[in-house]
Amino acid sequence: MFDVASIRNDFPILKRKINGKPLVYLDNAATTQKPKQVIDALVSYYENHNANIHRGIHTLAEEATAMYEEAREKIAKFIGARSSKEIVFVRNSTEAINLVAYSWGRTFLNRGDEIILSESEHHSNLVPWQILSSEKGLKLRFVGVDENGYLEIPKLEKLINKRTKLIAIVHVSNVLGTINPVEKIGKMLHKKGVRFLVDGAQSVPRMPIKVVELNCDFLVASSHKMLGPTGVGFLYAKEELLKEMPPFLGGGDMIKAVYLDHSKWNDIPYKFEAGTPDIAGSIGFGKAIDYLTSLGMENVFMHEKKLTDYALRKLLEIRDVTLYGPEDTASKTGVISFNIKGIHPHDVAQSLDREGIAVRSGFHCAMPLHQKLKLSATCRASFYIYNTFEEIDKLIIGIDKLRTFFSKS
Ligand SMILES: Cc1ncc(COP(=O)(O)O)c(C=O)c1O
Repeated sequence: MFDVASIRNDFPILKRKINGKPLVYLDNAATTQKPKQVIDALVSYYENHNANIHRGIHTLAEEATAMYEEAREKIAKFIGARSSKEIVFVRNSTEAINLVAYSWGRTFLNRGDEIILSESEHHSNLVPWQILSSEKGLKLRFVGVDENGYLEIPKLEKLINKRTKLIAIVHVSNVLGTINPVEKIGKMLHKKGVRFLVDGAQSVPRMPIKVVELNCDFLVASSHKMLGPTGVGFLYAKEELLKEMPPFLGGGDMIKAVYLDHSKWNDIPYKFEAGTPDIAGSIGFGKAIDYLTSLGMENVFMHEKKLTDYALRKLLEIRDVTLYGPEDTASKTGVISFNIKGIHPHDVAQSLDREGIAVRSGFHCAMPLHQKLKLSATCRASFYIYNTFEEIDKLIIGIDKLRTFFSKS
């Protein structure tokens, strides 16, 4: 049973009032709220187990190391990795993509090689490849997004040629909510020997994911978008790839032996984890995964689908509201971007905030997609496990109210 009322009880922040009104938090694509199980795990770690990992042989160091490694195991199981060696702890999805660009890209790509991205990428899956391509003389090519928010998959096949070395694509768009057919793309690339990176920042929190089914070489996600603390995320990469990739950052922990003139790298995944990581954050991330696992990711997905369906229907009924991206949930989840005729998205967000409703306005770190859609900005409502149909009703009432206000002013 997916019991939203009891889920909501686990989130202390949901009891807050904003401007005298109960908080309606609809900015989950930016970051989600944290259940007390995660908050308690952070407090308990610092109160009872705090020590540095992998180095000490005293009790606290061993406990902290075991808890940190247990969190890695949980992530591996959650996404169906073959082994926890395939999970590298990083700060966030952005760092994970930079790691791949820096380490794999600088080593295995050469002048004239091509990388395919989509027009709907978050800046974090665009800028690292721009930096790499200008350094190495690579060519970036782009699969388009049609007016309904779908990737132009037939055109993608035509973009692939002998120089294509990598395709890096967002799984669920953080603007349009489109679920891109990454399984299909992965299968197609498998035969062609092209590497495949999936940006799972929005999909890993929302749907059941098994890397083997995605046929991907790399998958990235951030803890803070799936109930966990900020400051931690993961890179999944196939074991054979991590073995052949050089380190990203140098320093303590990523080495086996250090001499004055050279060093020997540690085994994977430690080779990519230089310095003291966010130990507490990683353990909190593990707790967040426990929480989602206990709900069941199929149930999480279905709950969001129902909310998205409901919100789409209600928004479509409002005159002057334009929706972007798919208008049904066959291939959309959790994220709805919209505009209201004649009212700037920032004014919409500010007016809704007065009603206690948190939505996002702006580019959502996807400026090229907004340029493509000829938009200066959009409003975005994004849902998660604790949101309710009543909260969507409040959003709709809030929109009605602000339309009346702006039409009179
Ligand atoms: C699709 C997508 N990719 C990547 C990111 C970057 O995530 P982070 O800021 O946690 O690195 C985001 C964040 O909004 C996102 O929505």
